[in-house]
Amino acid sequence: MRKTVCIIALLFGSLAAPGQVKLTRENIDDVLSEMTLKEKATLVVGAGYKSMLAGITGADVRVPGAAGMTRAISRLGIPAVVLSDGPAGVRIEPARKRSKATFYCTGFPIGSLLSSTWNPEMVERVGAAIGNEALEYGVDVLLAPGMNIQRNPLCGRNFEYYSEDPLLSGVIAASYVNGVQSEGVGTSVKHFAANNQETNRFWNDSRVDEEVLRGLYLRNFEIAIKLSRPWTVMASYNRINGIHTQQDKWLLTDVLRDEWGFDGLVMTDWTGKRDTPAQISAGCDLMEPGEKSQINELVRSVKRGELPEEALDICVRRVLELIVKTPVFNGYTPSQAPDLKSHAAVAQEAAEDGIVLLENRSRALPLERGSVVALFGVGSYQLLPGGTGSGHVHRPYVVNLDEGMAGEGFTLLPTLTDLYGRYIDKNKPKKTMLSGMLGSAGAPEMELDRSIVESVAGEADCAIITISRQAGEGGDRHLEGDFLLEEKEKRMIADVCEVFHSLGKKVTVVLNVGGVIETASWKDLPDAIVLAWQPGQEGGRAVARILSGKVCPSGRLPVTFPAGYFDLPSSAHFPYEYSGRSSMAGGGNAGDDVPNVGYTEYAEGMEVGYRHYVLSESPAPSYPFGYGLSYTTFETGTPVIDGNSVTVTVTNTGAVAGKEVVIIMDPFLQTFGKTRLLLPGESQTLVLPLFFPAP
Ligand code: BGC
Repeated sequence: MRKTVCIIALLFGSLAAPGQVKLTRENIDDVLSEMTLKEKATLVVGAGYKSMLAGITGADVRVPGAAGMTRAISRLGIPAVVLSDGPAGVRIEPARKRSKATFYCTGFPIGSLLSSTWNPEMVERVGAAIGNEALEYGVDVLLAPGMNIQRNPLCGRNFEYYSEDPLLSGVIAASYVNGVQSEGVGTSVKHFAANNQETNRFWNDSRVDEEVLRGLYLRNFEIAIKLSRPWTVMASYNRINGIHTQQDKWLLTDVLRDEWGFDGLVMTDWTGKRDTPAQISAGCDLMEPGEKSQINELVRSVKRGELPEEALDICVRRVLELIVKTPVFNGYTPSQAPDLKSHAAVAQEAAEDGIVLLENRSRALPLERGSVVALFGVGSYQLLPGGTGSGHVHRPYVVNLDEGMAGEGFTLLPTLTDLYGRYIDKNKPKKTMLSGMLGSAGAPEMELDRSIVESVAGEADCAIITISRQAGEGGDRHLEGDFLLEEKEKRMIADVCEVFHSLGKKVTVVLNVGGVIETASWKDLPDAIVLAWQPGQEGGRAVARILSGKVCPSGRLPVTFPAGYFDLPSSAHFPYEYSGRSSMAGGGNAGDDVPNVGYTEYAEGMEVGYRHYVLSESPAPSYPFGYGLSYTTFETGTPVIDGNSVTVTVTNTGAVAGKEVVIIMDPFLQTFGKTRLLLPGESQTLVLPLFFPAP
């Protein structure tokens, strides 16, 4: 049957008059031989910023707000394919000029929270929900997951990424890819590779020893690619050892394709014009967002004999192979109405699975049912659900912590609700065109007068303080007032703890952050600390359910919280003094000689995150990799190696139902898994895979 179809397709291909062959899954060769040089060049150069800016310009595109598109060639039946961000949900414009309908997408928890679940099955469900929204809104390839190694706490995009460990990062990314692609939508694992800072990101040269590169910064991609076969890979902005990744044949062809067997397409990050023929020669198939001049450059270069047409053909074929897989090519009609309600439930469940309990002295948590809670901190009333930049999502709403707490039956203090409400109204950043597209920080923290704390403490049973942080694409984080707490935050924690403790009342700090912050200097003050990360649109509800005990915390840290920033050797080779400035700060060619701007020495070698503590004598971290508390207790049996897997039995020995994460290190992470919800006394035997794709 298949053979007959092929023969018919071949016949049509060869008999059709020039210009009449139309692309099918089977006739890619025929279409390729039919294409003019100009058409070939056209296909490997994206259609520009038209769709990304359509929300502002009102341009008539299929998916306004999508990051990019390919160019259609209608005479050959080649449609334009839509590419859209991003990791925490689909990023498209929520409103369209000629429509009354809305096009909101679910805001899922950030990458660091997803990896904190240590639960591949949960992450796959998140991926499937995001993939479904992409499909139903007409997106063909999702520009996610972001999976660079969290080399240093101050990287502005750590929130999009998963871990300091390549195995955890690779397995979680593979689950995400498998989920999205189960909906028939492609993914783009990004940013390949060693893209670990935002400062001067278009030019920075990551100088990394090959062994370290392969062992850490490529290893996670290798695992993800071998476990999930993503349709595409996105080459990063930066250089590695002097060569832009987008034109590095060793990286994109020798390693990615020849060694690892990747058979999909490589696209550029949203670079603008570089050396297009060199990119094609290296095995970079699609230039995004794409400029017309790149088409001419390619045509010229082939005509002059500088770029062999065969090299271009290889890339064109890969673009065609991608196109025939897409929903648009296969005639799918998007409903424009994904089931946002059921996806919100997935977002909430994922948040609840990844929130990490860092401290819980004298059983401060869970809180007494129905207690009166004094909520402090701007973040308690203005939860930051995700980071900014291309990882931003236009979600329909955000459940704040005050709303979540009220929904869980807690009573809040109107004095504080009014005070913070008025402050936030006055101080929230003005909406600009850019913040409309890419999100923004919320109102800054408020100076909290101690007299206010004293005046409300008598009315409340306990206090909760939220500390928030925002970060995003285009800039790294600051050391002062970002990694380290601001003075007003320190005062707020100290005052609330002092006043409430003097009345015998407990205090919990909720961390609503995208990345690691300093905790060692203040963590002994409150009774409990809950790391909520940026938990997505359902965050307030999820945190409240953890605080009330409806959900037993089961998240674990995917990244080390060091005692001090400079304990991590990468800190000596990170642009923390440029932090917060734009991605172009001090950069371009002009910054070539400036350490940590023009280039960054990965001189710490393998000593990234917890590996530093394993390999060198050093002060203990504030919270180690894999750390997290629970409201129940577990007994974990001795792991038994059995061929290619490890078998281990976990029993809930406590009084409430909970899930347990099993982490096997020797001395680095070897494998991991998570139990289902175990009732008190219940056991589960986990069989954990031991050998991930061999290096
Ligand atoms: C980001 C990518 C993103 C692309 C398209 C770039 O600036 O680095 O992660 O997918 O823009 O929005």
